[in-house]
Amino acid sequence: RTEIKQLFSAPQDFDGAETTVCGWVRTIRDSKAIGFIELNDGSAFKNLQVILEQGTLSNFSEIVKLNVGSAITVHGRVVLTPEAKQPLEIHAESVEVEGLSTPDYPLQKKRHSLEFLRSIAHLRPRTNTFEAVFRVRSVAAFAIHKFFNERGFVYAHTPLITGSDCEGAGEMFRVTTLDPKDPPLTEDGKVDYSQDFFGKQTSLTVSGQLEGECMAMAFGKIYTFGPTFRAENSNTPRHAAEFWMIEPEIAFADLEDNMELAEEMIKYVLSYVLEQCPQEMAFFNSFYDKGLIERLEGIVSSDFGRVTYTEAVALLEKVKDRFQYPVYWGCDLQTEHERYLTEEIMKRPVFVTDYPKEIKAFYMRLNDDGKTVAAVDLLVPGIGEIIGGSQREERLDVLLSRMKELDLREEDYSWYLDLRRFGGTKHAGYGLGFERLIMYITGVSNIRDVLPFPRTTGSAEY
Ligand code: 4AD
Ligand code: MG
Repeated sequence: RTEIKQLFSAPQDFDGAETTVCGWVRTIRDSKAIGFIELNDGSAFKNLQVILEQGTLSNFSEIVKLNVGSAITVHGRVVLTPEAKQPLEIHAESVEVEGLSTPDYPLQKKRHSLEFLRSIAHLRPRTNTFEAVFRVRSVAAFAIHKFFNERGFVYAHTPLITGSDCEGAGEMFRVTTLDPKDPPLTEDGKVDYSQDFFGKQTSLTVSGQLEGECMAMAFGKIYTFGPTFRAENSNTPRHAAEFWMIEPEIAFADLEDNMELAEEMIKYVLSYVLEQCPQEMAFFNSFYDKGLIERLEGIVSSDFGRVTYTEAVALLEKVKDRFQYPVYWGCDLQTEHERYLTEEIMKRPVFVTDYPKEIKAFYMRLNDDGKTVAAVDLLVPGIGEIIGGSQREERLDVLLSRMKELDLREEDYSWYLDLRRFGGTKHAGYGLGFERLIMYITGVSNIRDVLPFPRTTGSAEY
């Protein structure tokens, strides 16, 4: 059996050859004694033209009536077609039906809206758009592993069920085996989590960072790549309740090292996808985002911008009338602010650093001004934030007083504080939202269309 990808990658080798291919019928048409099937097997972003001839094919009349979506095995002879759009086709000598489809197969030959396709997430991988998106997703994931592996990073697996809230934003999905209607209660009437599965309250993780820091304090350079969960009630094209995050953590490193790593990683992944997925990228360039390829190539070959939060706010205040949300020193930048900064002012990806401590997490390193922390967000045109990171607070006393300000209980974080007690060193890391990166690479504008089975506020089909 030959995969369609093999045929297209070396057409000459198959000239006149007898071969067998398996796949799904994308389109089918016939005129009297001849029929044409466009067959897709998922191996390549291309369909193979299958020629059916009444004279040769014993079950010709059955096959030309197949519905789109049917699964078949074709045995036949390869004919090179140098004049046609595709370099070769296959003249069927036998066609075996593996699985029939029906006339109400939802993916008929016409352009379907992304909204409609979302309602059939189990079938949409069979469309050009989603075939391209999910292959780019797979290739980009591989590129990330390759990038870190080539640089000697250890891939660390951090837990999905956790007892701590890394970001302190309270957006956790609870994990419990207690009966919600009749939970055990303590003497003062509260739910008694000591009787729960883990003997305490637990949740799905919002970030693997804290455990990642433990691993970095042994291996020096680690990264995580796994699912994270946020019960954020934001119904936007950029937020999912379940998404994948890449979190490198590097010891003996500061914010500058962190930004260098992030910039190198983003450029590496963009180049790798452009190189490995030329057809998929050409498709996005034509149908979703004209100029996409040229723009990504430009990003790979130029430097990212850098501004401090304070500078960014000053720039945005000059055009504050454009925004729905107020912009002032101390505000949490909204997507509209982030996008304006990266799209209109900087016109490229931009690192924003040194945010006010009040709007950032407890673990970020306090700057000498006592007001800002060594945080960094990477903002990109079209999306806004795709990376959030920081240099971590390695000074035990400063970390403890910050936790006190935020009412975090020392005993809940004793293991994390141990990292500062036993050979603590400066270190830094960041989290890249994988779906946002895929949106950026493909030009697809809704996070629901880069996740195979999206979970968002109010929606968790399948
Ligand atoms: O900025 P965040 O919250 O940072 C952290 O979680 C840190 N602990 C990371 C670290 O320093 N190791 O999230 C990181 C990134 C964001 O920049 C965004 O790209 C993505 O994760 N993200 C989401 N993506 C999709 N849906 C959501 N609800 C997201 N929330 C964050
Ligand atoms: Mg963030």
